[in-house]
Amino acid sequence: MNFDLRMDGKVAIVTGGAMGLGKGVAKGFASLGADVVIADINEKAGRETADAIAKEGGKASFYSLDVTDSGQFEQMVKDTTGKLKRIDVLVNNAGIATKADCIDMKVEDYRRIIDINLTGVWIGGRAVAPVMIEQKYGKIINMCSLFGFVALAGLSAYASSKGGVSQLTKTLALELVDHNINVNAVAPAYIETEMTNNARTDKARFEDILRRTPKNRLGTIEEVVGPVVFLASELSSFMVGETMLVDGGWTAW
Ligand SMILES: NC(=O)c1ccc[n+]([C@@H]2O[C@H](COP(=O)([O-])OP(=O)(O)OC[C@H]3O[C@@H](n4cnc5c(N)ncnc54)[C@H](O)[C@@H]3O)[C@@H](O)[C@H]2O)c1
Repeated sequence: MNFDLRMDGKVAIVTGGAMGLGKGVAKGFASLGADVVIADINEKAGRETADAIAKEGGKASFYSLDVTDSGQFEQMVKDTTGKLKRIDVLVNNAGIATKADCIDMKVEDYRRIIDINLTGVWIGGRAVAPVMIEQKYGKIINMCSLFGFVALAGLSAYASSKGGVSQLTKTLALELVDHNINVNAVAPAYIETEMTNNARTDKARFEDILRRTPKNRLGTIEEVVGPVVFLASELSSFMVGETMLVDGGWTAW
């Protein structure tokens, strides 16, 4: 068993790597020696993150990508293998969240959430799989959510997308297991990122979150990066189609 978490010589793509959890994962991977491609729709923030990593001595570049566009995703995979020769890890992290009751939500807003959070993950796995099959090695890590397991009023689109990510993770894992490719997912509860700004500033909502979380606080970005690094390493080589909850105990009671 290789207990080394170092990622020297590994190439990793992180979608939605410009900000929040993706940025944390990109920084974490780079600090372990990986060559990281930050693939994000937000060009300004994405370039800033790549530059900040490079300033600290890490290897990182930015690629402008909308994960809902399969042509763009396939082109990124082609350009990355052209430049960096391989793709060892793909973290399908890009995602959005909107809170509104089903009857108040516009159909186009529902579709946008499913398109980015679920279809984008499907597109990503499909785009990178041929390269990983060819090299007989790969780790695909999908960003699910606590709300892939439990529900909360107002999250019909988001929870549906994340429930789908968990099932997609299992299915793709079975399709790729014979090629030495591990597909797994991480399912965080509320973490301190821009995405949870509204939940944190709404006093009643924030108190409800704390009441449901035995840890009595939100998680930090680093507390999600750890499980992602684990899934990108050989320590998780027997894990296939798993979605790991990182929820401060929310689902333990
Ligand atoms: N923050 C949390 O509490 C939490 C909890 C569970 C799961 N998650 C999941 O983690 C992931 C990251 O969340 P976050 O909190 O870091 O969010 P965030 O809003 O801070 O960052 C999301 C990133 O995704 C990018 N993005 C959005 N749409 C995109 C698209 N179409 N193509 C490419 N990039 C796109 C954004 O530009 C941004 O850089 C999401 O999938 C989210 O659902 C977050």
